[in-house]
Amino acid sequence: MYQHVTPYAGDPILSLVETFKQDPRPNKINLSIGIYFDNEGKMPFPNSVFQAAQRIENQVQPYLPMEGHAGFRAAVAKLLFGAESLVLQENRVAAVQTLGGSGALKLGADFIHRWFPQSHVFVSDPTWDNHRGIFEGAGFEVGSYPYYDPATIGVKFDAMCDFFRSLPEHSVVLLHPCCHNPTGVDLLPEQWDTILNIVAERQLIPFMDIAYQGFGDTFDSDAYAIRQAAKLNLPLFVSCSFSKNMSLYGQRVGALMVLAPNAAQADLVLGQLKFIVRRIYSSPPAQGVLAAQGVLGDTNLAAQWQNEVYEMRDRIRAMRLKLYEVLREKLPEKDFSYFVKQRGMFSYTGLSVAQVQRLRDEFAIYVLDSGRLCVAGLNEGNVETVAKALAQVFAE
Ligand code: LMR
Repeated sequence: MYQHVTPYAGDPILSLVETFKQDPRPNKINLSIGIYFDNEGKMPFPNSVFQAAQRIENQVQPYLPMEGHAGFRAAVAKLLFGAESLVLQENRVAAVQTLGGSGALKLGADFIHRWFPQSHVFVSDPTWDNHRGIFEGAGFEVGSYPYYDPATIGVKFDAMCDFFRSLPEHSVVLLHPCCHNPTGVDLLPEQWDTILNIVAERQLIPFMDIAYQGFGDTFDSDAYAIRQAAKLNLPLFVSCSFSKNMSLYGQRVGALMVLAPNAAQADLVLGQLKFIVRRIYSSPPAQGVLAAQGVLGDTNLAAQWQNEVYEMRDRIRAMRLKLYEVLREKLPEKDFSYFVKQRGMFSYTGLSVAQVQRLRDEFAIYVLDSGRLCVAGLNEGNVETVAKALAQVFAE
């Protein structure tokens, strides 16, 4: 019956997690998937989220509406666009609660494919692997735009601008507002201004995927690109996730925001988004979103939560510094300052596939084949081991 079904090659991130689980070595270290671990190597629940989650334990949950929890949708819009945002006052944002950030990407992708069928999608080179997968799965041709420059460990900014200038109208450009995954290399505010002006001139569709708000700098400054795009009245799509900054991984809590030129068009967009939701999963799950909304909708818990995220951010920064210090001492002839300059959970190490394999085989340290290392998996107990192993591998 199913002989003709082709085997699935597996996902580069999720398959590696499975391989890690099967590794019998007791000293193994997982720096592959983007999950925040604390200094004890545990996945912590921020205390604010824990408190909010406890309040709704063991309650029967009725179905949410297709578009999700109203209070949550409004609170997330404020978090992204800013509490005083004009576009919110003018009801120009269609907001939908989604199944994590991936669900938001898929919902947005399906909507764009339905209403702008001629559009092509362009993702940064490199990007999170599943960006390409989700947009191809929605029926798009997906190309890539120049982004990461291994020579400078920065952005190929001029090439990126030139590429955007060459794109046809309504091309979709997938952007990372902060904590670029996988490189950790972000645009500066003035670079965002330039890029967004080109997006406006060329009438492109910016799709911003923000999964790490609060891990780069502050909640406000991490949303700089989103707020600038709103000021320019761009046809902006935003997918966001609370997996990392609320530790709501398995609960699947995210949102999609679509900015429209006026309230009437925002309503039209919302209607079609609901239509897509109804035909896939009908309505989103309630448990996780009630915890998230318990935080966002409570001034004290929300403030506590933001501080807890900043503590996570600072711990990641401390691990970056430690890595850098050990590597600098072991290999003074090489420049490892990129470890401290990159932002967010990930560091693009520049390790080759062979070096990644050696880390895995010899030292039981798992990073992605691309060389992406999840700094949030480091702690006081393992950072020195990892830094020394990296030094040996880099010394080859
Ligand atoms: C990652 O990039 O590791 C995370 O976003 C987890 C995932 O689903 O790939």
